[in-house]
Parts: sequence; structure tokens; C-alpha cells
Amino acid sequence: MALLKSTKVFVCLGNITPSVGVMSARNSSSWWGGVQMGPPDPILGVTEAFKRDTNPKKMNLGVGAYRDDQGKPFVLSCVRKAEALIAAKQLDKEYLPIGGLGEFTKACAQLALGADNEVLKSGRNITVQTISGTGSLRIGANFLSRFHGGSRDVYLPKPSWGNHTPIFRDAGMQLKAYRYYDPSTCGFDFNGALEDISKIPEQSVILLHACAHNPTGVDPRPEQWKEISDIVKKRNLLVFFDMAYQGFASGDIDRDAWAVRYFIEQGHNILLSQSFAKNMGLYGERVGGFSVVCKDNEEAKRVESQLKILIRPIYSNPPMNGARIATTILNTPDLRAIWLEEVHGMANRIIKMREQLAAGLKKNGSTHNWQHVIDQIGMFCFTGLKPEQVERITKEFSVYMTKDGRISMAGVSSGNVEYLAEAIHAVSK
Ligand SMILES: Cc1ncc(COP(=O)(O)O)c(C=O)c1O
Repeated sequence: MALLKSTKVFVCLGNITPSVGVMSARNSSSWWGGVQMGPPDPILGVTEAFKRDTNPKKMNLGVGAYRDDQGKPFVLSCVRKAEALIAAKQLDKEYLPIGGLGEFTKACAQLALGADNEVLKSGRNITVQTISGTGSLRIGANFLSRFHGGSRDVYLPKPSWGNHTPIFRDAGMQLKAYRYYDPSTCGFDFNGALEDISKIPEQSVILLHACAHNPTGVDPRPEQWKEISDIVKKRNLLVFFDMAYQGFASGDIDRDAWAVRYFIEQGHNILLSQSFAKNMGLYGERVGGFSVVCKDNEEAKRVESQLKILIRPIYSNPPMNGARIATTILNTPDLRAIWLEEVHGMANRIIKMREQLAAGLKKNGSTHNWQHVIDQIGMFCFTGLKPEQVERITKEFSVYMTKDGRISMAGVSSGNVEYLAEAIHAVSK
């Protein structure tokens, strides 16, 4: 029989937006001859290039993972203590329920909304444990794709975290954008954002970064959040908050959750994604939460049933270790107090590095205004370096960052901040 020799393009339909793949012709030597080499992940690809570099002064400012002032990965002492408490209990390793560890989801929602929030008291939220923030966003995106009758359009800030687009696209949603960042000020384009949001068709989904916007480090001020809330309400938009950095922006978990709590107070029935990767340093444990704030408890029950149906065929139920650690920290007063101090310590070290970097640039003779390095908040700094300058700084100084000029401030330490200032000045003067 003549086998198919040519490569065919197929289009998947169903309830998913068309996604184009390449089907390989079957032949005796290969099933996957038609699979083309994909590009490296724009963020994780930076780490791969960094690893190959032999320059002893090299710096990896691509990936957003906290480092201590010696540049080493940092395990919080509250995490070590929680692990010891858990180990001493000799707990079993049975499957968790589909929605995760009950004590965890309760503590997770309380952390975001505040323990005395009316939503929690009336039981009109459903919170499930997820595979960190990414898994939470994806479960949310799948839920929207299956149940949000209003619109398939999701509006992201421009720019947004690079993974938002594939997460929503792969779930079958359509990506749109609203203005967010103003390159001329390296700050928030408040007027542009309001103008664009006021034109978003009713019932669309709008994604908002709750705090420490990634990649720009630019957050609205409370009075600006209030205007955003008003306009979002007028347009009847469904709000999806991504809160991957609670505590990391200001060092204060309540302050960083302000926008989420304000929107709920204003009557927005939001979707919420949470991650414990950054604020507890539980990156590889993959612990997060996805919440839906509903009209009432009865609606929450129905939504819960469908979330379970959605999760079950994807990963059946989430992993338990990270959830146990996070729960132990959140529910043990002594450990919680240590954690709050450690979050504060991480945020403060980053703030200090911002100041030292700006001062170092000045000391090197840079005449640019670097105030945005200090004003931006959270793990990332959008330096304003152009792609060709990024290319130069990597080639000549072995300083690795994403092409958009974003640097992870968490990778900057007292030992390398001067070198970084020198390097940035050299490519930007
Ligand atoms: C804005 C934003 N959302 C979500 C995430 C998800 O992170 P994780 O899946 O590690 O919790 C990140 C991580 O960098 C992020 O920056």
C-alpha cells in the first residue's frame, strides 16, 4: 500500500479554537518526521544560554526566582520548620480529593480575601488547589472556555506575563489587549488603559495583575484601581485576577491583596489565581489556588462540581506536599509570624537592590533618568533597554535577561550590583 508521503496540516476543532499542528506521514523509520523544531521558551531559554556561558561574572536575570544576597536559591526557614513538623507526623500518602487539601484551600482563600471577608462567611466562593499559578490560570481558562457564555475574548494588559497568551489560547479563548505600560515614562499608562478598557465589549474577560505586575513592575495606585473598578463595572466585564506575588510587592500580604479585596467589595464576582511559588519560595512544589466568587453558596456548589469534572481528566488530583507545607505555615501562628517576616525580608532586599542599581548607574556617569528602577515594584524591573542593547549586554558582559529588557531584581545582590550598573551604563550611554 502506498503510504502517505506528504506532510499534512490538520486543524483541531471541537470546543477549542483552531490550533494548527503538523501531522507526520507514517514511514518505517519515523513517526514524527513532520514535527518541526519549536523555538525555546523565551524565559527558560535564557537560563539554558546562561548555563553554557563560562564567564565567571555571568548573571542570570531572566527567570523570576528569588536569590539571597549570596546569589543562592533561598529556602525560607518557616518552610524548613513546617517540613520538620510534617515529617514528625508520619502522615500517609493517600490521594487528595480532586479539589485538593480542604485545610489548604480554606487558608488560601483567607489569605487572599482576608479571614473575615463576607464572601467566605457566606460560602459564596469555591477555591480549589492547583498546580501553582500556571495550573490555576489554566483551570480558570478551561472553565471560561467551557462555561462563560458571554464572550471568548480575554483582554490582557500590554505587555503581560509571556505565558498568559498560550495558557488562554490553548484553552480556546481569544486574546486581546489593553494599553498598560508607557515606554516614554517607564510607568503606568493610566489614561491609555482607561480608554481601552472603556471600549471592551460587554461580558468580555479582563485579566488584571493583582500586584507586582510582570514584566513591568508597574502597578496602579489605589485611586487608579478605583477608577478601573468603576469602568470595568460599567462595561460589565468579568475580572480574572492573577495574584502570583502576594507579599512580594510591598512586603505586606494585606497591602498587596488590596485591589482584589476592593474589587470584591465593589460587587465584582471575580476569578482569582494564587501562587505560593514566590511568596513561600515553593517554586518546585507547585502549590496554588483557583477561586471563583459566586452570587451565592448554591451557585458556588454548582461551579465546584464542574471544576471537579474539569480537573479529574487532566491530573486527577493535585500533589500534597506543597499544600501541607503552605497550610502548616498559614495555620501555625509561630510559623506564620516567621513567614510574614521572611516575605518582608525578601521584598526589602529587592527594594534595596533597586536603590543600589539606580545609584550605581548614576555613579558610572549615566545621565538617563533611572527613577523607574526604584519606582517599579516586585520581582521585576523593566529597564527600558532596547533589544539591541539586551543583545550587547549579554554578548559583552554575560548579563542574561529577556529580550524585552526585563530583569529579575531577585538575581541582583550586593556582590554583583556594581557590575550590573557598569554593564547597563556601557550599553545605554
Ligand atoms: C504573572 C504571573 N502569573 C503566574 C505565574 C505562575 O507561576 P507559577 O506557576 O510558578 O506559580 C507567574 C510566574 O512567573 C507570573 O509571573
